[in-house]
Amino acid sequence: MDKQTLHPQNINQAALIIEAGMLCAFPTETVYGLGADATNDDAVLSIYQTKSRPSFNPLIVHCLDIKMAKTLVEFSPLAKTLAQFWPGPLTLVLPMKKNTQISDIVSAGLDTLAVRIPANQTAHELLKAVGKPLAAPSANPSGQLSPTNAQMVKDSFNNRVPVLDGGSCSDGLESTILAINNNEIIQLRAGALAREIIEKTIGKKIALANEKSEISAPGMLKSHYAPKANLRLNVIKPKPDEAYLAFGQTPDALTPDFSGKIKNLSPKGDLKQAAKNLFSYLNQLDDGEVKTISVAPIPNTGLGEAINDRLKRASAPR
Ligand code: TXA
Ligand code: MG
Repeated sequence: MDKQTLHPQNINQAALIIEAGMLCAFPTETVYGLGADATNDDAVLSIYQTKSRPSFNPLIVHCLDIKMAKTLVEFSPLAKTLAQFWPGPLTLVLPMKKNTQISDIVSAGLDTLAVRIPANQTAHELLKAVGKPLAAPSANPSGQLSPTNAQMVKDSFNNRVPVLDGGSCSDGLESTILAINNNEIIQLRAGALAREIIEKTIGKKIALANEKSEISAPGMLKSHYAPKANLRLNVIKPKPDEAYLAFGQTPDALTPDFSGKIKNLSPKGDLKQAAKNLFSYLNQLDDGEVKTISVAPIPNTGLGEAINDRLKRASAPR
C-alpha cells in the first residue's frame, strides 16, 4: 500500500498532518495545491524549500468561506462584487488586515494577501477539518508543469509529499488572479475563470497587468509551467521527430509522414475541455525521449487567454 496517498474518506488524517506543521498536497478545482497551515512559519517555510520557490514569490491563502477571508483581508465594495464568484477558481489580491495570525512569509513582505475560496469538495472538507486558512501554491517544483492529478504530484516530488487524492481537477488551469487599484480591476494572471465572463457578469472592464504595472504577481515569470521538452507553438504541421499537442480537428495533411505521439486537447474544439487536459497531456507527451512538443494554434478567446498564457511561458527560453 502506498502510504503517501490519502483518500477523501481520510480527510482527518490529512488535517492531522497539516496541524502537525507538515505539508499535504490536496486537490482543488484548478490544480493540486501543496498545503500548509498558513499560520505556522516553519510549515510555510517548508513549502518554499520543497518547491525550491524563490522567497520573493508570495503564496495564495485558501479559506473555507467569506467569514474566514474577512478575518484576513479588507473587502472594498468592488471586492465584494468580485467575491460573488466564490467558491471558485478566482484569487483576489486584497489589503491585508493588521495582526492576523498569517505567517509573514506567506505574503513575502507585501501588504496585500492573495485569497481564494476553492469550490472542490475535498478542498472544502479539508479546510473545514483544519479550521484554519491553508497556504498552498501549485504542488509542483518551481517552474515546472502544474499537477492536475495525484500521480503528477507524486512523480514530481518523488513520493516525498503526502497527497490527498481527489481525482483529476475539473478545471485544470490555475485560478484567475485579480487585484484592485483605486476603482480599477487588474488581471494579474489569466486563469480558469475567463476574464470575459467576469466582465460580462459585473458589467465592468478588467485591465491587464503588464511589465509597467504598479501591481503584479511576483510569480509570473517568463519561463514557467515548462515540460522537459522544448515547445513550439502555433504549429499546423509538426515535424516527424516531434510530439504533437493538437486542438480541434487535426488536418488530414498531418497524418501521412507523421508517426509521433499525438494528444488532442479537445477534438471538438472546446476550450474548457482543452484547459482541463492541458497540463496532464503535456506531461504525457513529455516522456523524456521526445525533444520537441509542437502545439496547435489555440483561439485566444475565453479560456484560450489562460491556455495561451501558459503555453507562451512553457515555450519561453529557460
Ligand atoms: O489555482 C490556483 O491558484 C492554485 C491552487 C492550488 O489554488 N495555486 C497557485 O499558486 O497557482 P501559485 O503559488 O502557483 O501561484 C500564485 C501566484 C503567484 O504568481 C504569486 O506571485 C501570486 O499568485 N501572488 C500571491 N500573493 C500575491 C500578492 N499579494 N500580490 C500579487 N501576487 C500574488
Ligand atoms: Mg504555480
